[in-house]
Amino acid sequence: MKMLLLALALGVAGIFTGPAAQAQTSLIQNAPARRVLSLNGSWNYIIDPYENGFYDYRREAFDKSATGKGGYYDNAKPSTAQEPELIEYDFDHSAALQIPGDWNSQDPKLLYYEGTIWLKKSFKITPTAGKRYFIYFGAINYESHIYLNGKKLGMHQGGFTPIQYEVTGKLNSGDNFVVVKADNTRHLDAVPTINTDWWNYGGITRDVYIAEAPETFIVDYKVQLAKDNMSQLAGYVQLDGTGKTGQSVTLNIAEAGIKQILKTDGDGRATFSIPAKKLKLWSPQSPKLYAVSLTNGSETVQDKIGFRTIQTKGQDILLNGKSAFMRGISIHDENPLIPGRARGEGDLRMLLTWAKELGCNYVRLAHYPHNEAMLRLADEMGLLVWAEVPVYWTIAWQNPATYQNAETQLSDLISMGKNRASIVVWSVGNETPLSDPRLTFMTNLVKKARALDDTRLIAAALELHRTPDNVIHVDDPLGEFLDLTSFNEYAGWYWGGKPSEITKYTFDIKYSKPVFISEFGGDALAGYHGDAETRWSEEYQESLYQNQLKMLGTIKGLRGMTPWILADFRATRRQHPVYQNGFNRKGLISSTGVKKKAFYVLQEYYRQQAAKYDGGK
Ligand code: GCU
Repeated sequence: MKMLLLALALGVAGIFTGPAAQAQTSLIQNAPARRVLSLNGSWNYIIDPYENGFYDYRREAFDKSATGKGGYYDNAKPSTAQEPELIEYDFDHSAALQIPGDWNSQDPKLLYYEGTIWLKKSFKITPTAGKRYFIYFGAINYESHIYLNGKKLGMHQGGFTPIQYEVTGKLNSGDNFVVVKADNTRHLDAVPTINTDWWNYGGITRDVYIAEAPETFIVDYKVQLAKDNMSQLAGYVQLDGTGKTGQSVTLNIAEAGIKQILKTDGDGRATFSIPAKKLKLWSPQSPKLYAVSLTNGSETVQDKIGFRTIQTKGQDILLNGKSAFMRGISIHDENPLIPGRARGEGDLRMLLTWAKELGCNYVRLAHYPHNEAMLRLADEMGLLVWAEVPVYWTIAWQNPATYQNAETQLSDLISMGKNRASIVVWSVGNETPLSDPRLTFMTNLVKKARALDDTRLIAAALELHRTPDNVIHVDDPLGEFLDLTSFNEYAGWYWGGKPSEITKYTFDIKYSKPVFISEFGGDALAGYHGDAETRWSEEYQESLYQNQLKMLGTIKGLRGMTPWILADFRATRRQHPVYQNGFNRKGLISSTGVKKKAFYVLQEYYRQQAAKYDGGK
């Protein structure tokens, strides 16, 4: 990120006033590539389980909207008056958290903490007249109230998608401070709901910065191949600002011999469809990225974009028109070596390097939007991506606000990822129990996803049911609306029986679409050894994988899988004192980075699949 050198241009350091709470500006595309001032680093924090920080400290009122004076958001200091007022907090003398970073993994007393923590960051900036400024958070879990210099910017719900507010005219020239109220309390009507199988890491878990832009700037763009067309580019550029209409924007992909001057319409938008005969297509074997630049007057936005098509044909999946087998693995956004939300590129590159070592060409980024940096790494390293929103298990299907929340998270995920060649699937949820309200909720999400992006596949982890004759039936009505028949199955672990008995199962799949196993697996405590029937041993997990792969190989139309899961991960529900200790042990790699025996079973299977489909790569 380029540090921002902001020349002093405003004569006075006047305290700017603005609306108490402001609607969120549409998300800036490729925000990290703008001129940014990073706010990563030490943030002082105050634990606040009693919501004290929302109170007026004279105890006069509980001010949830917190637009008045008096809460922690003021970052108040004792006055120098003879009788200084009572202030029972002091950020500058409070402990600090390293941001980006959840609080659970940074302070042992916060490991299980669920509630409010207030965080404060002071920073210096000298805004330039005529420029626009935005504060940008990669993610805050789960509900956040954000204040700049004591003034509220807004409230956001959703723990895994970017948050952004325009702060033009609200920055002081010189000293500023931002206060975030982060609250990871779980709620029945939230997305996800109160029950999940991952750690409820709270706080500011991804990058924070101030982005600077010209008064009229390129706020959004999509530069991809047209649907199912390997030699035609299609997309748009969207400007924001008073001079957005009738503007010339230059799209330049020099290496592809493309340079096009676009003209924005009355809404500041220019759509385009450009022949692109000479493109080298992106694929896991050859993850070709082009330097793409968009220039509007004085501003140029640079991106690196890959071009590929993804489509289904009967029960086949075609990548760039060629039959593909998705050799995948599921991944949580957690570095098992330092449990906690992945902190930055180092953590993310480690996870994807393990996936490549396993022989993968595909990763399921479960169960929520991952860091934008993860998507860019997948582009660079040649890994296809299944991206997902946390519509997980027993959501409040009949609550309109819950649906709106889910749809907003889906829209923000698609907005963030729409230029990433690696993403080939948008998943609208995971293992959601059948009901009419659930079907309505999920099919509405499917329709929304298709409306936002008709170039990628839409999927979900469907429900299945078994009959006494060991037939696994996949006839979830949601499957009708999806491009893949994808489902989780846990033969050999949750269904009783031994791994050697897994091959007794057969499948009855209602839909003639590509079949994709979005999860299978079983727990193993690394280093715990027994025979193939000793549950929790590496040998049990090894035998489970051997027999699962045999059984799955009998499925007509099997086009891929993302076994559960690359690495052991923290999970509050997993409390067996010998085998789990707060970890889900289905990882093929342990929480200390040790590869279990089952890792090599899957690695060999993927070597064979690669030889069969991709000439060994
Ligand atoms: C479920 C769920 C996962 C969970 C896994 C398990 O299928 O999708 O999030 O961790 O099973 O039980 O380990």
